[in-house]
Amino acid sequence: MKIFRTVRDIQAYTKELKAQGKTIGLVPTMGALHEGHLTLMREARKQTDIVIASVFVNPTQFSPNEDYNAYPRQFDEDCQKMGTVPVDAVFHPEPAEMYPAGYCTYVNVEGDITKKLCGAQRPGHFRGVATVVTKLMNLARADKAFFGQKDAQQVVVVKRFVADLNIPTEIVMVPIVREESGLARSSRNRYLSPEEMQAALVLSRSLRAGDAAFRAGQKSVAALRALVKAEISKEPMAVIDYVDIYSFPALQPIEAVNQPALLAIAVRIGKTRLIDNVILGGDETCC
Ligand code: PAJ
Repeated sequence: MKIFRTVRDIQAYTKELKAQGKTIGLVPTMGALHEGHLTLMREARKQTDIVIASVFVNPTQFSPNEDYNAYPRQFDEDCQKMGTVPVDAVFHPEPAEMYPAGYCTYVNVEGDITKKLCGAQRPGHFRGVATVVTKLMNLARADKAFFGQKDAQQVVVVKRFVADLNIPTEIVMVPIVREESGLARSSRNRYLSPEEMQAALVLSRSLRAGDAAFRAGQKSVAALRALVKAEISKEPMAVIDYVDIYSFPALQPIEAVNQPALLAIAVRIGKTRLIDNVILGGDETCC
């Protein structure tokens, strides 16, 4: 597995691959890898000749009060895990390599898809994501880039700027990978104490309840939201950031679920903010 730390080196590598006619799959990550990330990489392995993963804790997508400094960094362990996929190359730059002195260009997805859900509570977050993902797709010359449904709004935003900017990369969304307990895998799960881990099961439990009610015929968005909120409120350690339902993938407000819709939740357990979702009326089975 090749490891590149500079823009120049990864550019030389991908230029050569393209000259050889290879298709390239990109899996952008912030490291602290788990089964969710590895599933994206395995999917890329199936769909493209060459798999490039990036491991970069992107400073521009964190607000000043967020966990940028505390975000787990464990590159050696990550490399071992990527070797099992196997991944062909890893791009692992320093922040100054991606944002050198004088850097001043950002990709800002305007419009309401970045203003709701996580965008409402994390101003500037999607600007940082769109900027770094654009740079990574350019560097990798990616034919396909793989993203998890775990961050469904991120997928919607990425698809939007890829279409708007005519970027020739196909975006592939991979279903959420969970623990046996139902807890969605996340690099932030490691912040949870055993007691908080137990409390965090309320996220998938409440989504299951919402999905079951929908399948039993409840189509009202207000009723489904109320039901999911009530389920989360049964857990004393849980504090709701949002429980929302929007059409998917357009992310527009709806009153009834008569088309595929995203039921998305963000819940704080202690100091840790966790997100999870299910697509009502989608193809996947619920958590
Ligand atoms: P990160 O949180 O490391 O996630 C990298 C990718 O893994 C994202 O596409 C995310 O949706 C996916 N992922 C995380 N947990 C998953 C799970 N349980 N099941 C399936 N996929 C999962 O998302 C980011 O990093 C960053 O915003 C990034 C796109 C790398 C830009 O900096």
